[in-house]
Amino acid sequence: MGRPLIIAIDGPAASGKTTLARRLAQELNYLVFDTGILYRAVTWLALTRGEDPQDETRMTQLARALDINLHPDPQTGETRIYLQGRDVSQELHSPQVDAWVSVVAAHPGVRMALKDVQRRLALRGGIIVVGRDIGTVIVPEADVKIYLDASLEERARRRYEEARSRGHQVSFQQVLEDMRRRDMLDSSRDTAPLRPAKDAFILKTNGLTPEEVFERVMAVIRERTL
Ligand code: DC
Repeated sequence: MGRPLIIAIDGPAASGKTTLARRLAQELNYLVFDTGILYRAVTWLALTRGEDPQDETRMTQLARALDINLHPDPQTGETRIYLQGRDVSQELHSPQVDAWVSVVAAHPGVRMALKDVQRRLALRGGIIVVGRDIGTVIVPEADVKIYLDASLEERARRRYEEARSRGHQVSFQQVLEDMRRRDMLDSSRDTAPLRPAKDAFILKTNGLTPEEVFERVMAVIRERTL
């Protein structure tokens, strides 16, 4: 594994992509690029300005003008996200943003506006790019493509625990229904719908520990890059 690789990780919400990406990054000394935050940033801007997330023209303008900066937190090493100079890392994961982000991400204009920035960063290599269409649309030339999946109930349970630990007041039923709706929107949209690339390694993470997922994926990375 001498050459810095491009590793794409796709899959539905809460399938374990971020946990896996962080673990791989630690092992390989790579960067993690979570592309979902770009769609979340556009959604957050729209909601704070009182704009309609369903307005494709306006959402595309916001995406084109996105002024986003990523800085590692000196204490935790986690990536902090700044929009217009303000740290919005927490707010990008609020239930309000969760509820609207799939609508924003379904606009072809928004996807087109965000494609170049994603490709440019990904092509630097030595990077793990996390999203929904990384292996199919953004960098089809990625060296390794992983597609993680898990049942709806399992993913909703993970997202529910995550939301509670962030201090958001939500019910499990609410999280489950929201996730069902988002799955439907993400996989039925016309532009770049959620689906595995033909050459992706598909792994169902139900019942697997994060370490087991990591070990299986490392084996694939070794095998595909020998
Ligand atoms: O991974 P996430 O939950 O932060 O993603 C937020 C939304 O953005 C979700 O509805 C899917 C969408 N998304 C996308 O369409 N393409 C990506 N590459 C990343 C996220």
